[in-house]
Amino acid sequence: MLLPTTARRATTLLLFATLAQVAAAQTAPARVDLGKREFDNNCAACHGRDARGNGPFVEFLRRGPADLTQMSRRNGGVFPLAQVFEAIEGAGSGHGGRDMPIWGTEYSVRAAEYYMDTPYDSAAYVRARILALAEYLNRLQAR
Ligand code: HEC
Repeated sequence: MLLPTTARRATTLLLFATLAQVAAAQTAPARVDLGKREFDNNCAACHGRDARGNGPFVEFLRRGPADLTQMSRRNGGVFPLAQVFEAIEGAGSGHGGRDMPIWGTEYSVRAAEYYMDTPYDSAAYVRARILALAEYLNRLQAR
């Protein structure tokens, strides 16, 4: 059967459009907000989903966590990235009395469980997660 030229062109275009859609659906997975996901899963229990320090776990802590949305305000309007990174990583805080978990250690344990025998860069895995969390917290800062 021979279709008129315009109809054939339209069919071809339609086919390409469909193929492009299928390709797009396969190559572009829904954007994952890694920082938000990590925060909701690991931090919200204490810090609260809105990071204001009212998570359900707070009653078990010696002192409630600070409002994480005020960190920029308390630092002259600048997000204290290095401080936040260190607070999350937990490096240098090896003394007792800390309720905040040491996420640097926690994430390196998780990386080891995840990769098992596959070679991987533990420091990069830990850093990527802490940076994603810091970036998410930066977005939550009160202006
Ligand atoms: C078991 C409860 C708990 C969990 C879970 C927790 N935190 Fe904390 N966090 C605290 C407490 C309590 C503090 C206050 C300081 C302290 O005790 O060391 C704190 C302090 C902090 C600070 C420093 C705040 C400041 O004003 O300097 C940051 C940043 C932070 N937490 C981020 C996180 C992130 C990100 C996660 C998840 C990966 C997390 N916390 C998980 C309890 C928790």
